[in-house]
Amino acid sequence: MIRTLNVDLGDRSYPIHIGAGALDRLDVGSRRCLIVTNETIAPLYLTRLLQRLPDADVCELPDGESHKTLTTAGAIVDRLADGGFHRDSLVIALGGGVIGDIAGFAAAMYHRGIDFIQIPTTLLAMVDSSVGGKTGVNHRAGKNLLGAFHQPLQVLADLDLLATLPPREYAAGLAEVVKYAALGDLAMLGWLESRVEALRAREPETLAEVVHRCCVAKARIVAADEREQGQRALLNLGHTFGHAIETSSGYGALLHGEAVAIGMVMAADLSQRLGWTAAEDVTRLRTLLDALSLPTTPPPIPADTFVSLMQRDKKVLNDQLRLVLLKPLGRAVISADVPMDLLRATLASAA
Ligand code: NAD
Ligand code: GLY
Repeated sequence: MIRTLNVDLGDRSYPIHIGAGALDRLDVGSRRCLIVTNETIAPLYLTRLLQRLPDADVCELPDGESHKTLTTAGAIVDRLADGGFHRDSLVIALGGGVIGDIAGFAAAMYHRGIDFIQIPTTLLAMVDSSVGGKTGVNHRAGKNLLGAFHQPLQVLADLDLLATLPPREYAAGLAEVVKYAALGDLAMLGWLESRVEALRAREPETLAEVVHRCCVAKARIVAADEREQGQRALLNLGHTFGHAIETSSGYGALLHGEAVAIGMVMAADLSQRLGWTAAEDVTRLRTLLDALSLPTTPPPIPADTFVSLMQRDKKVLNDQLRLVLLKPLGRAVISADVPMDLLRATLASAA
């Protein structure tokens, strides 16, 4: 069964098709297509996609976050320009968040924006990055520093593609799933707790339900706040702590989702110190993440380094550290006036 939901953005609205075989919903008419994928995903799924798009061109990139650069996005644009692709041509991103972000950004730049389709192949991309139109690449001065809001034409989350995802990558995607529950859906948190074994086993019905619930939540938030003027920032729960952890441990040591899992527990701990979240709810969150094979304590990082890395985060506004916290678990809020002594207590207790 394929479930379809809509991201409501006026004339830029688009469908998300979720389910085993969703790839078969791909319909590009007679438009020319450039498929962007990578060296890991191409041997697994490119043939299947080319069966539907026999005339498409393919741009195969090296694998990895280190290639999410302006140079790589430029190489895609070169392929489009040199290949004579027109304003009405299509870019198709077949991959995880890295491919989706770069391909979407290339599509946003070419002719000031041509259409693109997201075919996410990781759980993280299905529940988060393929939806919402954030595209971009990294710069040496910061992760995702260059980018554009450019909504896809359609998202096809084919759950069959998750079968080959390595266990660590799968668990990292589950961190983002838990994030949706922690930030706005306590009932979903209870449901996840009751489905831990099914989640670990990638049970198809459970996966379909998970991806659908997350996409419904993300679509609602994006429709209300496409450009992150307000509530979209709540999706960054755990991310300011997480980015500091990722940066200090070197990109690649921890997966993004793993750093977010640790960051969420630290955000919950700080929320408890503020009197906003019960101690048992901090334990509840940690226990669920643990059960899903996610780390919940940071590597050793000196507190001063941690604070200064957090202050470099994009969420800093007018020099004020803005953190997404839980007031209580199941309801995220943005807080701009966190007492430094409480933040340091959280860092000390996590060390
Ligand atoms: P990724 O794209 O690097 O994919 C993880 C690894 O899994 C890669 O080695 C990839 O080749 C491999 N892979 C992908 N699909 C596979 C499959 N089906 N079978 C086997 N291997 C597969 O990582 P990710 O976690 O999907 O995405 C992380 C990126 O997403 C980061 O760059 C992050 O900044 C970005 N992101 C963007 C948004 C957004 O809103 N645009 C949101 C969250 C994260
Ligand atoms: N992943 C955060 C966002 O899309 O806003």
